[in-house]
Amino acid sequence: MMENVILEAKGICKSFSGVPVLSQVDFSVRKGEIHALMGENGAGKSTLIKILTGVYTKDSGSVFWDGKKVEINSYKDCQKLGMACIYQELSVIPPLTVAQNVFLGREPRKLGLIDHKKMNEMTQALIDQYDFPLEPGALVSNLGIGLRQLVEILKGLSCDSRLLIMDEPTASLSGKEAESLFSIIDTLRKKGVSIIYISHRLEEVYRLSDRLTVLRDGKNAAVLNHDEIEPKKVIQTMIGKVVDESAGSSKEMRKNSNEVVLEVQNLSDGTGFFRHVSFQAHKGEILGLGGLIGAGRTELVRAIYGIDRYREGTILLNGQALKPSPRTSIRAGFGFVPEDRRGQGFIPLLSINRNTALTNYDRIKKNGLAVSDKDELEMCREAIRRIDIRPADPQKQVGLMSGGNQQKVVLGKWLMRDLKVLIVDEPTAGIDVGAKDEIYGILEELAKNGVVVILVSSDLQELIRVSHRILVMRKGAIIQEFDSGVVTQSMVLEAASGLMKKEEAV
Ligand SMILES: Nc1ncnc2c1ncn2[C@@H]1O[C@H](COP(=O)(O)OP(=O)(O)OP(=O)(O)O)[C@@H](O)[C@H]1O
Ligand SMILES: [Mg+2]
Repeated sequence: MMENVILEAKGICKSFSGVPVLSQVDFSVRKGEIHALMGENGAGKSTLIKILTGVYTKDSGSVFWDGKKVEINSYKDCQKLGMACIYQELSVIPPLTVAQNVFLGREPRKLGLIDHKKMNEMTQALIDQYDFPLEPGALVSNLGIGLRQLVEILKGLSCDSRLLIMDEPTASLSGKEAESLFSIIDTLRKKGVSIIYISHRLEEVYRLSDRLTVLRDGKNAAVLNHDEIEPKKVIQTMIGKVVDESAGSSKEMRKNSNEVVLEVQNLSDGTGFFRHVSFQAHKGEILGLGGLIGAGRTELVRAIYGIDRYREGTILLNGQALKPSPRTSIRAGFGFVPEDRRGQGFIPLLSINRNTALTNYDRIKKNGLAVSDKDELEMCREAIRRIDIRPADPQKQVGLMSGGNQQKVVLGKWLMRDLKVLIVDEPTAGIDVGAKDEIYGILEELAKNGVVVILVSSDLQELIRVSHRILVMRKGAIIQEFDSGVVTQSMVLEAASGLMKKEEAV
């Protein structure tokens, strides 16, 4: 064992119901290094992390901490050693406040009672230290997914750990928030804290990591030093093929002169999340919505689809006014992939099969009567095939699938329908590079067939690569439209940050 190694795992094996997920995995992290863990969706990254943090028990193998063999049987054990983890599927508890979440189980006490005042002060100090847009007393249930992720990160940072594990910490963050996380990571590294970093955003990984371990199908595929980290090679090792991930730095926008399918007139929600929003979307158009976290994009598309109410304005589908509710919207030909897949996108306890069927009962119902299991299964198989859901097992419980594959289920269930408008909010959060490419292909194919695709994305590369036209929102209003000429990532970012004046565009 090398002296500068803080954590070492040797020969880790883990199976679920007889299916091996990790086979003889070796993994080691040095003191003060940022070690990236990569691999495609379902490769076993989160499972390895859950074993190291005592959430799952390993079938065999050993773990060493600072040179000593250890047994980690609970998250408490791992905390005691000096590890903290920011999990991929957020563990924050919505009915509690930010402060209660950050200090859950470690609350400061006075005479045996929780000292709320002190807890709020301690939380405020952390918030100030890291400059997060949070308030200690705010209820997490009132926060969007991006801010919830910041709470999760704050909780991890509050522990003063020697090793911090981050499983997809930036999946729901926009460029700006991600940037502030990176400078925090830099500071931690300088203090000698080790970090395990999991992300599908390759440019982050290249930028941050000192070393990189690639898992493929639950096995070690490579360990690369910083100077060996070469994008093409990493992707090749991860997914076995080469994809061009340089596309999307700039693109020529274009107006679409087909008929208008969706028109939004002067929409306001009444509380300021979005104000006087008007736009048209044409048949076969992919309309991108850019903006920072909190710009109101999610609130806007939720209202258009009918999950939330709006106070003022009109929504027209093919010229007909629509009073949206999820039920009427689905009937009218809308599909919706929410950003919070776990909270709103699927029912974790049900199988892929049932989740797909729930959205599609009207399609497979026969004469208004019962649904045949055979039709249900066939439809599910089609979804699995079209979007390469793994494992390709209709009976698999969605809550037990890998993060990226859960996201594929949420998108896949809409592909079976005759859609007019598909709204996707951060559709590739947590999706690996290979599968991303496939999802872009699917969105493009839908558009070719006349569907209007509304894409909300904080990933600028994705927004530019996929959209035909881009609207940028800021503080609840559309402040910029890019509908012709070449648009670059920095142009979108400047507009989103309020730095670009309207007349400078185009
Ligand atoms: N509790 C569980 N029960 C059954 N199968 C599981 C469970 N947890 C994970 N799996 C399976 O283990 C495999 C690896 O999943 P894991 O979540 O580790 O992947 P991952 O590399 O983190 O992927 P992603 O990039 O999508 O997050 C998947 O096939 C998943 O379905
Ligand atoms: Mg994972």
